[in-house]
Amino acid sequence: MGSDKADLWDVEVSSPEELLGYEVLILGIPTWGIGKVQEDWEHFMSRLEDFDLSGKKVALFGLGDQESYPETFADALGKLYEVLQKTGCSFTGSWPVAGYSFEGSAAVKGGRFVGLVLDEENQPDLTNERLDKWLKDIFTSTPKQNVYHGR
Ligand SMILES: Cc1cc2nc3c(=O)[nH]c(=O)nc-3n(C[C@H](O)[C@H](O)[C@H](O)COP(=O)(O)O)c2cc1C
Repeated sequence: MGSDKADLWDVEVSSPEELLGYEVLILGIPTWGIGKVQEDWEHFMSRLEDFDLSGKKVALFGLGDQESYPETFADALGKLYEVLQKTGCSFTGSWPVAGYSFEGSAAVKGGRFVGLVLDEENQPDLTNERLDKWLKDIFTSTPKQNVYHGR
């Protein structure tokens, strides 16, 4: 994306207060421990639901492994989405489920993933192409400079 377009933050050493200065947020999350949120994200997420993010636009992406964890594919992405729904933010960057093979995912709402899903274990060759398309999509709908990148 380029550091001229986004500030990069690490949730392990950040707090949700730091989101408040931005109008557009890009948050990324892997799924760990069979459908679980990774520890660094857990603490951040437990505080996130207390914040008012109304007026902010949020794009989400998640990392997962569809072959080894087909029933909990990118579940943490769905959990993050559910927490953010309580904050009043609006979402951009949902993503089609076509092109993936899995049994179940908490990240699918209304037939689409709530954000971009990347599978570096099984489809690393598709990552750049997916990212290019997704970034074009979100920047077309949100032509802003201030972007928070959660991981
Ligand atoms: C112990 C363990 C549990 C995992 N559980 C899931 C899971 O439930 N669902 C999923 O989609 N991916 C799961 N994964 C795959 C990771 O999300 C995937 O490898 C991801 O690329 C990790 O990103 P990171 O290396 O940036 O942390 C798991 C991986 C490990 C090692």
